[in-house]
Amino acid sequence: MKEHDMQITLSTTKKEKPQADQLEFGKHFTDHMFIMDYTQGQGWHDPRIVPYQPLSLEPSAMIFHYGQSVFEGLKAYSTPEDEVILFRPEKNFQRLNSSNGRLCIPDVDVDFALKALKTLISVDKEWIPQEEGTSLYIRPFIIATEPYLGVSPSHKYQFIIIMSPVGSYYKEGIHPVKIAVESAFTRAVNGGTGEAKTGGNYASSLKAQEVSEKMGYAQVLWLDGVEKKYIEEVGSMNVFFKINGEIITPALNGSILSGITRNSIIELLKHWNLPVTERRISMEEVHEAHKSGLLEEAFGTGTAAVISPIGEFLWNGEEMVVQSGETGELSKKLYDTLTGIQRGKIADELNWTTKV
Ligand code: COI
Repeated sequence: MKEHDMQITLSTTKKEKPQADQLEFGKHFTDHMFIMDYTQGQGWHDPRIVPYQPLSLEPSAMIFHYGQSVFEGLKAYSTPEDEVILFRPEKNFQRLNSSNGRLCIPDVDVDFALKALKTLISVDKEWIPQEEGTSLYIRPFIIATEPYLGVSPSHKYQFIIIMSPVGSYYKEGIHPVKIAVESAFTRAVNGGTGEAKTGGNYASSLKAQEVSEKMGYAQVLWLDGVEKKYIEEVGSMNVFFKINGEIITPALNGSILSGITRNSIIELLKHWNLPVTERRISMEEVHEAHKSGLLEEAFGTGTAAVISPIGEFLWNGEEMVVQSGETGELSKKLYDTLTGIQRGKIADELNWTTKV
């Protein structure tokens, strides 16, 4: 698929843009979207940018029945020099293809997807909010569109990119949350779809989230599905602990999502010569560290929130407060550095940003 194949149909009307203080995560959408179709035998075809609009799909389209879909999330930022930059976008399209592999969806061309995204951003450039803590959240996704009720990989797909101006995930920017360690429900097991970014993983997490919210906790901490001992993720994020100086994140094991923020933090910590380890870590170990005063910090990481400090864990009925419920020094430094690089305010020593 070549760039010149792309058709652009501009919207004849322009939607009103929300004020920066009205931006909620994922509520407002820009004027345009990208779509490309896949038909078996023909491959990906008809890439186009069109006005943001509803989709027309048959009720029998396979996405509605068996959930064959994948998605990504990344952000575009406006720099103080009024340039537009993306943070490691090729990683998102590479991961989209890994998820595609798991869901039997055909790969997309990473270079073409990136070019298409840059064209879409250029068309809707005026939608990128400027204020501190804001960005343009980008949601690429692929759905199975073949009208068929048999359980098999679809022969037709649509690859779509929509974009949403967003404020910070939490109003305060970086704000400690209370977490309940999950015991009844499981997010994923090795051999399942846990390491793919597919809607079903998020649908299956909703019940645990609902139960924990009723108990006054913002998110759940997911343990492994077999022994219910080892820590996997927190809410829809990866998780890190600082114990007695060592920074630990669960090693990727097939059921944990390979987060781009997770990977960037590991690389940043190594760049700072701080001890970071990817390994198995049990809730028992975190509890012991807390008891002996060695649990210094805990935080979730993801594109949406960047860093989300954990102020308290509820485990087996015991409330374990971390950092007196305040944001730790490392969490703050990582948040400031990552968002600084993402917004073009801090030198990009690791070469992570790409200009649009
Ligand atoms: C992220 O942290 O970016 C996520 O994956 C959450 C998203 C599903 C809203």
